[in-house]
Amino acid sequence: MSKNELKIEHMSVGDLPQVIALENQIFSNPKPARVFEHDMNIYYAAKFGEKVVGYIGVEHILDEAHIINIAVHPDFRRQGIASALVKNILGSAKSFFLEVRKSNIPAQKMYEKHGFHVIDERKKYYVDNEEDALVMLLVSTK
Ligand SMILES: CC(C)(COP(=O)(O)OP(=O)(O)OC[C@H]1O[C@@H](n2cnc3c(N)ncnc32)[C@H](O)[C@@H]1OP(=O)(O)O)[C@@H](O)C(=O)NCCC(=O)NCCS
Repeated sequence: MSKNELKIEHMSVGDLPQVIALENQIFSNPKPARVFEHDMNIYYAAKFGEKVVGYIGVEHILDEAHIINIAVHPDFRRQGIASALVKNILGSAKSFFLEVRKSNIPAQKMYEKHGFHVIDERKKYYVDNEEDALVMLLVSTK
């Protein structure tokens, strides 16, 4: 596979240092490294060659999936990488939900583009700044 071709695969031990560095760079309340080490099986990485440019974490309970994390390297945004990560998991459950910060318009727009819509709010969901979360849902019609 060419280095210029985006591949999406289950996160591996070798991806962890890059994923943890990205998580710390991107989020104000990053998940600790041990979360990725422990939950690696629910994460997918988007890569150009060996370079990790994005990742997504999704937990499944029966037909329902909870997207717990998605991030794209700041230098690689608006190239469809988050969309590719989302599309990659969309066949895996009947319904998908997630929480997103009320102020995080880019993420809301990205999810809306894939058919998610806001169904609820969780007050003071984020402990770092007590920001409210919007709950977004997608129910597959397939
Ligand atoms: C949100 C995030 C994952 C989007 O990743 P991305 O790879 O840039 O997204 P895509 O290129 O697939 O964008 C798909 C669509 O989402 C929307 N979108 C993405 N970023 C946007 C922005 N900054 N402003 C407005 N709309 C945006 C657009 O509709 C875009 O389609 P277009 O480029 O054809 O206009 C990325 O900005 C990111 O990592 N943010 C920080 C982490 C984060 O907020 N994670 C979400 C936690 S819930």
